[in-house]
This record gives sequence, C-alpha cells and structure tokens, in this order.
Amino acid sequence: MQKQGRHNWVVLVPCPFQGHITPMLQLGHALHSKGFSIVVAHTKFNSPNSSNHPDFVFLPIPDNFSHHGNPFEIISALNANSKEPFKECLAQFMEKHKPDDRVSCIISDIALNFLDDVSKDLNVQSIALSTNNASFNLALSGIPRLHAQGLIPVQDSTLQDLVPELHPLRFKDIPVSSFATLGEFLEKLGKSKRSSSAVVWNTMELLEQTSLAQLQQHDQCPFFTIGPLHKIVPSCSTSLLKEESSCISWLDNQAPNSVIYVSLGSTAFVDEKALVEMAWGLANSHQPFLWVIRPGSIRGSQWIELLPEKFTEQIGDRGCIVKWAPQKEVLAHKAVGGFLSHCGWNSTLESICEGVPVICLPCFGDQKVNARYLSTVWGIGLELEHEADRGEIVRAVKRLLVDEEGKEIRRRAIELKERTEVSTREGGSSLNALVEHILSF
Ligand code: UDX
Repeated sequence: MQKQGRHNWVVLVPCPFQGHITPMLQLGHALHSKGFSIVVAHTKFNSPNSSNHPDFVFLPIPDNFSHHGNPFEIISALNANSKEPFKECLAQFMEKHKPDDRVSCIISDIALNFLDDVSKDLNVQSIALSTNNASFNLALSGIPRLHAQGLIPVQDSTLQDLVPELHPLRFKDIPVSSFATLGEFLEKLGKSKRSSSAVVWNTMELLEQTSLAQLQQHDQCPFFTIGPLHKIVPSCSTSLLKEESSCISWLDNQAPNSVIYVSLGSTAFVDEKALVEMAWGLANSHQPFLWVIRPGSIRGSQWIELLPEKFTEQIGDRGCIVKWAPQKEVLAHKAVGGFLSHCGWNSTLESICEGVPVICLPCFGDQKVNARYLSTVWGIGLELEHEADRGEIVRAVKRLLVDEEGKEIRRRAIELKERTEVSTREGGSSLNALVEHILSF
C-alpha cells in the first residue's frame, strides 16, 4: 500500500455539521481499511468525537469564523476566513512527517471551497466529497441557466410547474428561489469541482444513474460512487450528540411495522405552531410513535416545554420522545413502519437501505429534491404538500401504516432495500477504484 515511507496519509476536512461529518468519517474508515493513515483536520466548532476513532489523528484548527446564523451563513463565513489557519496546520503536519511519510491527498467537503487554494499552495492533490446526492447537485448546476432564462426568481404561479430539463423537479423543489444569494456560492462550487482531481459521491448508481451521467457530461474529473457508506463501514460511530438507546427497548414492545419514527435531522428548526401541529397529528393518528426532538430545535424553548400538557397526558406510553436516537438501529427495527423525515440525504439513504417508507417533510436545501425523488422516482415516499397541519399528518400516517396504499409503498421500499443489498454485495461501490486513483498520485 505505501508507495514510500511509513504512512500514506489522507487528510480529511469535514464541513462542521452532523450530516457532513458522518459521511466524511465513514469515508475515512473505508480508506483506513484499505491501508491509508487518516488525519482529520477539523474546526473546533462541532468538533468530531476523536475517542470514537482511535486509529485516526485529529488536528483541531483554530476557529476564525462566526458560528452564528444558518448553516449556509456559517459555511460562507468558514470559507471566507479559514484558508490561512488550515494551511498553516496542514503545512506543520506535513513538515513534521517529512521525509518518511507522504500526504497523498486532501479530501474535503465539496462545500469548503477554500481547500482548493490550500491544496494548490501545499502542492497536494485534492478530492471533493459530496455529502449531498447527485440529483441535488444537478438541480444546483441548472440554477444559472434558469436564471438566465428568467425562470428564477420563481413566481408563485409557476411553483407547481415541472422545471425544464430537471424533471421530475417542480419549481417549488428547486433549492433557492433567488439566484442572488447563491450565485457566488455556485460559481465557487463549480470552480472547486474543476480543480479537484475527483468527486466522491455517497450515493449509488442504482439510485441516481441518470443524474450522475448528466453531471458527468459537464464535469471533467472522474466520479467515484461509493455509497451507501454507512453500510460499507457499519460500525463507525459519528454522533455529535449522545444517542438514547432506551428507545430501542420501547420499540421492542411495539407491534411490527406499527411505529412512525419522527426526526428532522441535526440542523432544522421549527416554531411552536409546527411543534403543536406535529404533536396533535401524531396523537390523533392513534399509532405509536418515536419522536426525536433535538434540544434547542424548537424556537423559543430549551427542549419540550412548549408541548401542550394535554398532549403529554393523552399519549401515555404510546409515544416515546428522545433528544437523539440511534437512528440506524431504529430504522432497522422491525417495529418501525414509517419515517416522518426532513429528508436529509443521510436519513434518506439510511431509510432506503432499511426498506422503511418515508413521509416527507422537507425543510430546506437539498431536502425538497430528496423528497421529490423519494415520492416520484423511488416510489417509497408520501410528500406532505403544505406547512403540515395536524390533519395532514394524521392522513399521511394512516395512508402509510393502515391503508392498502401503505402496504404497496412498503413492498416497493423492501424491494429497493434488497436491490441496494445486492448492489453492495456485488461490488457496486467504486471504493477500490478510488483507492487506485489515490495511489496513482
Ligand atoms: C444536513 C442537511 O440538512 C441535509 O439535507 C444534507 O443532506 C446533509 O446535511 P441533516 O439535516 O442533519 O444534514 O440530515 P441528514 O443528512 O439526514 O443527517 C442526519 C444524521 O443524523 C443521519 O445520519 C442520522 O442517522 C443521524 N441522526 C439523526 C441520529 O443519529 N439520531 C437522531 O436522532 C437523528
């Protein structure tokens, strides 16, 4: 494995959010199993738990950016201010390991465009990891064209229309309504892809063959489709929050396929009104539910203080509420019959791989694209159409867990799960090809 020296290092630079850290660390474990030594250069903000990865070296980089605002604003601040501290730390690391070891490449989150300059300055090859899927990236790449055609900003009258050349997406599924906020970001994203020696995707050909092929027509560098990473390195623990495993014993006492699992991931926030509608929707569905409410995710409260008292009295032990769940174990549990999800890409892949159908409640970014693919392309999701009120939630839970329609959706979900298993078993992941690519540097 080692071309020269004692260690063949791969430097990983994750974007500091759970949904991005997870696939990056999983990729690190996959490469470590192929003989590479792994160093994780990370911000102190949302720093990964190094004790879960004793074989990796962790390199904390001084934070030079504001942690305030939404993830998009935080990533923009990080891109604007982090080049020098990262370059300095990586240069020191390389100097310390000279001349015995070599640093093969820097793999950074595709959203962190400042790493292109760092890798150029340090004369190290760079690879981009896209933690979102190809279909979302295809939608992003279409935004400048739609803007030039005057189709965005989107008008209310066209929200339901299909987007030319981006079927099955409707204008309402497009990640931004205004080009102005995203123009510069998209330009840098394109530049970042062009200067990378490869793009790594945590997805599967069988799910996204068409989008991958369309993207590859415009991108010169090779693509490596290595998902589903959580199945390739199943024991990798990446949670930033403590998982409450007590919910598994609660699930053990529920009937098969009866429970609706509810989680909006690690970055979405909701207001009190949405919380109350969700609560009564779940209560009135008369199905058991496991609900993750992340501390601080309800605006104006610490945790669940804003839940109506009557709701708590009424549900008894038909509902289980936790701060953070061992999600992959939950989705694999036989009691779970559906996932009411914000449709983040990790959650989407995890649900697909366990054959759990989804009620889609997308919040922002790639989630609307993922929701659209879940419902129309993979046929395993029901989309909630509006700001979900309690009635819509009740109807969706009933359609999925009680009605004949739900049985058909579950059959498709199980069939898709089986196809993902066959593909993974038969070497559908191009991890080995990625290893060869890195060794060729
Ligand atoms: C963010 C974006 O929102 C998402 O759309 C994008 O694709 C990646 O970055 P996040 O919102 O956290 O991610 O969603 P998601 O991608 O689904 O990742 C959440 C991760 O947290 C999943 O791996 C899930 O298993 C894990 N999780 C979630 C838990 O382990 N426990 C929980 O209780 C909830």
